[in-house]
Amino acid sequence: MVDPTPTDAPVIELRGAGKTYRSGSIEFEALKGIDLAIHEGEYVAIMGPSGSGKSTIMNVLGCLDTLTRGEYRLGGTDVNDLDEVDLAAIRNRQIGFVFQGFNLLSSLPAWRNVELPLIYGGVPRNERKERAEQALVRVGLGDRFENRPGELSGGQQQRVAVARALVGEPTMILADEPTGNLDSVSTQDVLALFDELHARGRTIVLITHELEVARRAARIVWVRDGEILRDELNEDVAA
Ligand SMILES: Nc1ncnc2c1ncn2[C@@H]1O[C@H](COP(=O)(O)OP(=O)(O)OP(=O)(O)O)[C@@H](O)[C@H]1O
Ligand SMILES: [Mg+2]
Repeated sequence: MVDPTPTDAPVIELRGAGKTYRSGSIEFEALKGIDLAIHEGEYVAIMGPSGSGKSTIMNVLGCLDTLTRGEYRLGGTDVNDLDEVDLAAIRNRQIGFVFQGFNLLSSLPAWRNVELPLIYGGVPRNERKERAEQALVRVGLGDRFENRPGELSGGQQQRVAVARALVGEPTMILADEPTGNLDSVSTQDVLALFDELHARGRTIVLITHELEVARRAARIVWVRDGEILRDELNEDVAA
């Protein structure tokens, strides 16, 4: 067999990726055939105004939604060839999600929120608690294991969400406006966590509409109206 030089193959590859939403007779082309390749260990920010298609891209990359045309290859596999069981397994093992609205369960203490991906992943109970607590320690919440989301500040809730995203040791973190609801101190805390995850070799895709946040990434992809306008290294971005 020919060696496809795996180190050069992108972990994420969109080719001519299109997404048309249909509501009744109304169609909206949210992605107009984009090409995007991201390699393992890259830290990429996706920037663009409201409605430009950022969350749509994120949902496709995270296997939460499918393309209406074009191709998405994840780790070399065409996602279209996978069934719902395979997709759920990929989401669980390879991808950690951080959403703008935190998506925490309000009735559960922090550690129980963090252990959720491990429950779906079939990790035994004792190990789950230990790993959830370790993840909370990593995000600086070692003294908040038992607090419910309503007893935590917005920045702390977002850090619980980051702990939940990393507890399963995913290879890839997808974050959609993870700092959108945070003050500047909490924003810096969350961005510092991403810097650390990147330094440990994780692939990170961070969606934001703030240039200051995007500039923490090594590469910035600018989207507008469902198209990629520019794709450039941070160091080449004009101040
Ligand atoms: N389920 C849907 N049905 C119809 N249109 C949709 C649907 N989801 C998104 N859209 C439309 O697709 C476009 C892109 O939406 P998307 O959520 O990707 O934008 P975004 O860049 O994430 O914006 P924001 O910064 O406000 O979060 C928008 O015009 C939106 O109205
Ligand atoms: Mg969005």
